[in-house]
Amino acid sequence: MAPRILVTGATGFIGSHLARRLLQEHPLGPDAELVLVVRDPTRLSPALREGARLLVGDLRQADRFREEIAETTWCFHIAAEADYRGGSATVENNVESTRMLLDLLAEAPGLERFVFTSSIGAIDRHPNDPCRRPLTEDDPAHPLTPYGRSKWACEERIRRSPLPWSILRPTWVYGPGMRKTSHIRTFIRMVARRHPVTKFAFPGRVSLIHVTDLVDALLLLAKREEAVGEVYFAADGHPRSLGEIFREIGRYLGIRAGTIPFPRPFIRMMRALRPHLPFAAQNLFSDLLSASNEKLVRLSFTPQVPFAEGLLGTIHWDAREAMPPQERKWSLVTGAGSGIGKAVAQRLYAAGDRLLLVDCNGEALDREARRLEARAFPLDLARPDALETLLQTIEREGIELHRLVNAAGIGIRGTVAELGFEEQQRVIAVNVTALLFLSRFALR
Ligand SMILES: NC(=O)c1ccc[n+]([C@@H]2O[C@H](COP(=O)([O-])OP(=O)(O)OC[C@H]3O[C@@H](n4cnc5c(N)ncnc54)[C@H](OP(=O)(O)O)[C@@H]3O)[C@@H](O)[C@H]2O)c1
Repeated sequence: MAPRILVTGATGFIGSHLARRLLQEHPLGPDAELVLVVRDPTRLSPALREGARLLVGDLRQADRFREEIAETTWCFHIAAEADYRGGSATVENNVESTRMLLDLLAEAPGLERFVFTSSIGAIDRHPNDPCRRPLTEDDPAHPLTPYGRSKWACEERIRRSPLPWSILRPTWVYGPGMRKTSHIRTFIRMVARRHPVTKFAFPGRVSLIHVTDLVDALLLLAKREEAVGEVYFAADGHPRSLGEIFREIGRYLGIRAGTIPFPRPFIRMMRALRPHLPFAAQNLFSDLLSASNEKLVRLSFTPQVPFAEGLLGTIHWDAREAMPPQERKWSLVTGAGSGIGKAVAQRLYAAGDRLLLVDCNGEALDREARRLEARAFPLDLARPDALETLLQTIEREGIELHRLVNAAGIGIRGTVAELGFEEQQRVIAVNVTALLFLSRFALR
């Protein structure tokens, strides 16, 4: 029988990224079947709808899929009500769906791995914990929310089960596809609206992980024998203060954020008051939600996505989500490989634009084009034939330019008498002729 990979929660943020990777990479070989338990298949991408076998229904009633689930080789249990503001319904859903899945998988003779996505919220901190060091897997659980308690209850059940389990506890997961109400996405909106709270340099640090790296970690746990019976925190290893996160978002949106500092005695007072603050405010001043990734790194996990990169991609995706496709603008930026052109291109990308980037430094241009999902035109603006080719491509592809940023320019110092004629002609060709040529084209 062909191996079978079962994924729950594939209509959600993390589950959809994982399911797409499984379809692309076939970690159990090309014959392996991907099986998704989903409540609403219309929320799946067409690729997943066509490429996977679907078991449609609520996990709590999954006993009707008993026979299909009994053929599972690997299971990734991602589904949950993941909102920390949830109440008893969240607890019931998360605990019951996990209990049902464990019961059904107990009847799967070929099950090689059960990977459970828990949460840092299953652990949180004891009220007396001064939050001076990142959490480790040995720290005791003290979940502060019903959601966290539900994840801890699931972990306990899984640990007692005879299955070959591994548990991953993600910290804050961010990336394209995040829920609207989720941490970083909420912060992007708050900074964009210049919410007064985002002006402050809150010192409380949180651990984060990009969804691509989280998927790497999930796959690693499934593949590695040493991970059976083990629990791991998933984080990129660089906890960041909320002030820093606001600042970084502001940098991409062109808005000042996260800059107003708090006096030290006030920070000390707020840290002492932490246990008495509402949950959402406890991490403003304390490193409540920071966790070490050392154990996962020992398993050979290497985070690949730097926060600045991952955040920019998330901001771009969030902007695109908010606008109908016909409103997405094409922008052409010259000199986009470095300096002002590069910074402007980043800002336009963050605003949701589609980009055409021009630079004569092909390597720098390619790097930026990959980061910003842009079309790259490595060309010398001093050459009229190169300009013609660029414009012909734009016309042939029916691209309607909305913005042109003429950031390319060269400067050669010297008097008219000192500089060679060709040098002077080149300065005029790049700084004046190309600018006029492209501007006339954009304005036509
Ligand atoms: N995002 C984070 O920052 C973060 C951090 C730590 C841990 N986690 C954990 O990671 C997992 C995924 O989180 P996420 O951010 O991807 O959440 P999400 O986008 O809200 O996705 C949750 C998924 O679970 C499904 N689901 C919930 N209850 C179900 C049930 N009874 N039967 C079938 N499907 C059910 C949802 O299906 P519908 O589409 O039908 O609603 C959805 O596909 C969760 O276990 C969460 O606790 C997330």
